[in-house]
Amino acid sequence: MTAGGLAAKRVSRAQEMVTAHAHPNIALAKYWGKRAYGENLPSVPSLSVTLAGMVTTTDATLSEGPDDVFVLDGRREEGRPSARVTELADRLWSTSTRRGHRPRVEVASRNDFPTAAGLASSASAFAALAVALDAALGTGLSRDRLSCLARQVSASAGRSLFGGFVELPAGQPGDEQLPAVALAPASHWPSLRVVVAVTAEGPKAVGSTEGMIRTAETSPLYGAWLEAAPRIFSEVKRAVLERDLAALGPSAEHSALTMHATAFAARPGLFYWNEGTMEVMRRIRQARADGLAAYFTIDAGPHVKVLTEADHEADVRATLTATEGVLRTIVTRPGGDAELKS
Ligand code: PMV
Repeated sequence: MTAGGLAAKRVSRAQEMVTAHAHPNIALAKYWGKRAYGENLPSVPSLSVTLAGMVTTTDATLSEGPDDVFVLDGRREEGRPSARVTELADRLWSTSTRRGHRPRVEVASRNDFPTAAGLASSASAFAALAVALDAALGTGLSRDRLSCLARQVSASAGRSLFGGFVELPAGQPGDEQLPAVALAPASHWPSLRVVVAVTAEGPKAVGSTEGMIRTAETSPLYGAWLEAAPRIFSEVKRAVLERDLAALGPSAEHSALTMHATAFAARPGLFYWNEGTMEVMRRIRQARADGLAAYFTIDAGPHVKVLTEADHEADVRATLTATEGVLRTIVTRPGGDAELKS
């Protein structure tokens, strides 16, 4: 939906509830590491695909209470999760032309997939939140501004404002306003499939922000990562534009493994994987040697996302289902923008 469309759907009466949807995204070229000049600017460029098949739904209502309220998957959240909702609401308000005291908000968000476990729930969470708050608060910001503001809270969230294939450039000094950029819509490559192999329930031990800071401060491989990532990003971008899975797969695997190797070498080392993660990588490589077009990528969690084409979806699912340590699979495909529910 265009920014104009968003504005048109803005609620007129303060107490009305608005609902927004957003999909998580999976980075095919990974972001890992922040610039020293603040504003949550990435140190490396990244490229993701937004995933239809998983969704965050977020309701927002203006409230008369003294504080913002945040309910996630039916549970009232305090501390950092709630502070991040307030942070995003404050950023929207101060960026807009609205003046005076910002109304408090009540936000209820739910995911139809595991929260905070390396399935990019923060990406869809803050993208849906940006759209919902913009409508509830009547701030009327453009999609680029919403992407930038979501990116300041969680960099990958800036990408989930857009559907299809999305880039987030590395930040440069003075880039406070940096949004993600839509590279190609979902219709560019509708036959691409990302089959998620869920290998654990429950949240991961070390969040991505803490993991990135520790990696940058202590991993002797961090400099090599900063040097390699832009080149891997260019390979991934070219393969996506050409819809070439045989070129994309090896580059996406290389991006994920280089990112994780850099994090392993932090002090203490960061292990986001479990036995199931290892087993899936092994089985996918074996299946590939036997002729299946399938490649893996892994974010800051134990799940594995397998890239394939629609023709091979059933074989990939069967391979994953037969793999020890895989609890279940979720089939996703390129999806659309974060938007208000009509
Ligand atoms: O933006 P964050 O804090 O959710 O970090 C995302 C980090 C990775 O998922 C590992 C990579 C990426 O580019 O999404």
